[in-house]
Amino acid sequence: MPTLTVTTRTPADIAADSVVVASIEGKDGALLAPGHGLPSTAAVHLEAMLADLDAKGSAGEVGRFASVPGVKATSVTVTGLGKEVTGEALRAAAADAVRALRSKKHVVLALPTADLTALAAAADGAAGGGYCFAKIGAKADTTAVQKITVVSTLGAGKGVKDAVARAEVIGRARDWTRDLVNTPPNVLYPASFEAAAKDRAKASPAKVTVTSLDEKALAKGGFGGIVGVGQGSANPPRIVTMSWKPAKAKASIALVGKGITFDSGGLCIKPSAGMLTMKSDMAGAAAVAAAVMAAAELDLPVAVTGYLCLAENMPSGTAQRPSDVVTMRNRSTVEIIDTDAEGRMVLGDGLCLAAEKKPDAIIDIATLTGAQMVALGNLVAGVMANDDSFRDRVVLAGATAGEPSWPMPLPESLRKGLESQTADIAHKADRWGGMLTAGLFLSTFVPEGTPWAHIDIAGPSFNEGGPLGMAPKGGTGYGVASLVALIEQYA
Ligand code: BES
Ligand code: MN
Ligand code: ZN
Repeated sequence: MPTLTVTTRTPADIAADSVVVASIEGKDGALLAPGHGLPSTAAVHLEAMLADLDAKGSAGEVGRFASVPGVKATSVTVTGLGKEVTGEALRAAAADAVRALRSKKHVVLALPTADLTALAAAADGAAGGGYCFAKIGAKADTTAVQKITVVSTLGAGKGVKDAVARAEVIGRARDWTRDLVNTPPNVLYPASFEAAAKDRAKASPAKVTVTSLDEKALAKGGFGGIVGVGQGSANPPRIVTMSWKPAKAKASIALVGKGITFDSGGLCIKPSAGMLTMKSDMAGAAAVAAAVMAAAELDLPVAVTGYLCLAENMPSGTAQRPSDVVTMRNRSTVEIIDTDAEGRMVLGDGLCLAAEKKPDAIIDIATLTGAQMVALGNLVAGVMANDDSFRDRVVLAGATAGEPSWPMPLPESLRKGLESQTADIAHKADRWGGMLTAGLFLSTFVPEGTPWAHIDIAGPSFNEGGPLGMAPKGGTGYGVASLVALIEQYA
């Protein structure tokens, strides 16, 4: 992660590897977006270069030009915004530029940021664009931009400095989530995830307490859902609690994350093609862990407790069976229909534990259903809740954070699909509306009157394609920024 600083200097005078400016789509091709702050000799030169290259100024188009007259930096990088200068376009264009400049050390960002929201979006994109997982082994490539100087045309007052510092804190947290998601499942399993959370908390200047329930404590505490999911694996389950308690908290928020470190499906085993990406089935827990760290490092006056529901879903002689009945933390009984619907079982227990502390709101985040991807695709999360206005608040927090999501219903009419002959409830209904029935199942573990939202991130948590805007290949870190934005609403 690069460091981010603000300057009000003119970008052409800064000794750096590259100055990043923006282009927009004009009628006859790319135009330099206003607000770059470069001298006109440089602008004329760059526009001639763009014209000669038939550049379009479209999103994702990045060009680098060395020895631009009047510019001290070694090069100028032009990054395309598309048709309009929006926060979203700035975030993606900054990310694309920083990714393209990965081999350079010092990058100056001179993008058209006319207000604080635009500046914050650009800083966020710059902080998130350069990520690359350090391959395991001797040839580990850790090349990345080290220093980003954000040029501000809005002065360098507290608002501007805070926005850029915030982008750096969230960027670091998001990169941690990406690292956790990309770490192979023979390295990251419940106990090593717990150790990683403890190490991260210890290394931070902020005070986050990390405690854990191991498999014995979980059995003793009656957490039959997570115990059942974990019992087929040689790597036993954990619920790890990470808590940030500021002196004068204005509210208390509980975050619950699905942390299946590998989802083979259990006895209802997945086909091999569907299993390959299932190391990412802990992306919800990783987002929760990082959001707690970020809230603490930003010193937000809101108490935040994260519950990481960690288990490995494996088939074996000790694995749970379809038709088993387990007793959850709240004493309700659940009939297991399909061992591949394991996420809701670990989350059910996690939601019970969170509710026991009577927080002001509970948010869970999970790579819960393939149905989410069928409904909304790879980039947009589904948000369900027991309260429509709380649901809309969560969707709005995502929109401001650059993480798109969409409100989804919890139709009462689908509840009958969860009836069971042998237990209080079955954990799965038929295929249709699979994202919604999973949400309905979770809702039964939340006490009435506690605002609760469920974010299904099966699609946006993991990018199987090439890098796209903020999203690198692999773990995207989706959710960290939304959760922080939501917590900030209570500050
Ligand atoms: N972890 C998966 C959901 C998933 C699928 C996330 C693809 C990301 C990409 C979850 O545990 C699962 O297997 N869900 C099943 C539920 C079904 C058995 C009710 C699904 O969606 O098929
Ligand atoms: Mn599964
Ligand atoms: Zn799963």
